[in-house]
Amino acid sequence: MLFGIKSGNPAKNRSQCTMIGVYEGGKLSPTANLIDKESKGYIKKILKRGDISGKVGETFILHDVRDISAARIMLVGLGKEASADGAKFLQIVNAGINALKKIPAKNTLCCLAEASAGDEDLYWKTRKIVEHFEAAVYSFTEMRGTKKDTPIGLESIDLFMSDKADQIAMQSAIDDGTAIAKGIKTARDLGNLPGNICHPTYLAEQAQKMAGEYDSLSAKILSEKDMEKLGMHSLLSVGHGSAQPSKLIIIEHKGGKPKDAPHVLVGKGITFDTGGISLKPGANMWDMIYDMCGAASVFGTMRAVAEQNLPINIVCVIAAAENMPSDCATRPGDIVTSMSGQTIEILNTDAEGRLVLCDALTYVEKYNPKTVIDVATLTGAVVVALGSQASAMYSNDETLAEDINNAGNTTLDRVWRMPLWDEYQVQLKSAFADVANIGGREAGSITAACFLSRFAKQYRWAHLDIAGTAFRGGVANKGATGRPVTLLTQYLMDRAAES
Ligand code: BES
Ligand code: MN
Ligand code: ZN
Repeated sequence: MLFGIKSGNPAKNRSQCTMIGVYEGGKLSPTANLIDKESKGYIKKILKRGDISGKVGETFILHDVRDISAARIMLVGLGKEASADGAKFLQIVNAGINALKKIPAKNTLCCLAEASAGDEDLYWKTRKIVEHFEAAVYSFTEMRGTKKDTPIGLESIDLFMSDKADQIAMQSAIDDGTAIAKGIKTARDLGNLPGNICHPTYLAEQAQKMAGEYDSLSAKILSEKDMEKLGMHSLLSVGHGSAQPSKLIIIEHKGGKPKDAPHVLVGKGITFDTGGISLKPGANMWDMIYDMCGAASVFGTMRAVAEQNLPINIVCVIAAAENMPSDCATRPGDIVTSMSGQTIEILNTDAEGRLVLCDALTYVEKYNPKTVIDVATLTGAVVVALGSQASAMYSNDETLAEDINNAGNTTLDRVWRMPLWDEYQVQLKSAFADVANIGGREAGSITAACFLSRFAKQYRWAHLDIAGTAFRGGVANKGATGRPVTLLTQYLMDRAAES
């Protein structure tokens, strides 16, 4: 998709579809007003007839409007101006994009950034328009054989600029939005690939490939042998039942001074989760191709930060394994020694995410990191607690929690903070080992986070449980969302802006 900025008289723009906003109650946006004047009151006349009332989500397309050079004018409902906010703005933009996708327009002049969105500024609105256009034209076609999808005809989007002074803000919004959209696409593609293709070795190859595309990136892969030497027996126990070897994938972005401590991202990369010997039921097990969405999101974030060449150092560590049952698989009741020295009683082999993450969390101590954020489709319990709106966030540091919360509110890729109180830790008591890998029926997302917290004591740390936000499961309508790439990239952009 090509994004450009257009100024001048929008009535004279020869776009195939010009998108303009109308408020509920008859008020017109500035461009709609101008188009109305040029067309001698045609827009107001249409509104009076009542075919569109201006509610959020409504669209109405007019053809060959008199004295207007565009082939079509799309009226997009903006709702009530007084109650406008960022979330409604996204609904407005999405409604416009969806209507545009249904018509054979190759280009558009989008005048929606002038709509009010509460406290959000022009940079924010422009960036969101870019991110949402890119997300809307996404389709996962890599696995199609003969049944090809009809390609989306939309090729270029011009964003209308009413004031030349806005040029810098709009261009940087387009640049940042494009970088983030690339990261989101990467995360969605990796997430959507099935388990027979996207295994740990595939993820490792993709990391090396991406590192080759950017000067600031480098990749390093640890084999099972390397991990044995480091004592990562918890991580290794998860892949024992699989013919696919586990990998620890490290991607580094060097944008800061060589000696600057990095921000670290850790991703759960279970490329397929059968549950292992604690086998999952068959129905919906196909959703477990998405159990590497944590890895996919940190991977995509590395692309976004490399695209922007953020002036800070960032390290991403992906713990990749396949959780399979076999005669070599870990048994319930097995006890393993983690890299930290803590022993773990594996009471349920389906609680494998924490087993790979804990060793990755110990591994990253060597970076002396500024902050560490791990991202994981960790528990079904978080889907019950928060659904698909917010990712659960846990942290041992107030400032870090606030920074992540702010990035979530800025991007609307939101998180909700959950407790890590010591009182929950007793649920993880093991008779024989230092800790058990499950904490019983209650508070499943919290006890999973409590387990991880035991391995994250050396630094400022946060954990995001994204099992509800990273993908939509099911059969015909499934798909990775790309969350929380936007959140993580915003968090890192904010850190870069401080440095
Ligand atoms: N990958 C799953 C969690 C999951 C469930 C992600 C649904 C996405 C959608 C995880 O490895 C798992 O199986 N967790 C168990 C933990 C339990 C055994 C303590 C769960 O949530 O049931
Ligand atoms: Mn599992
Ligand atoms: Zn899992």
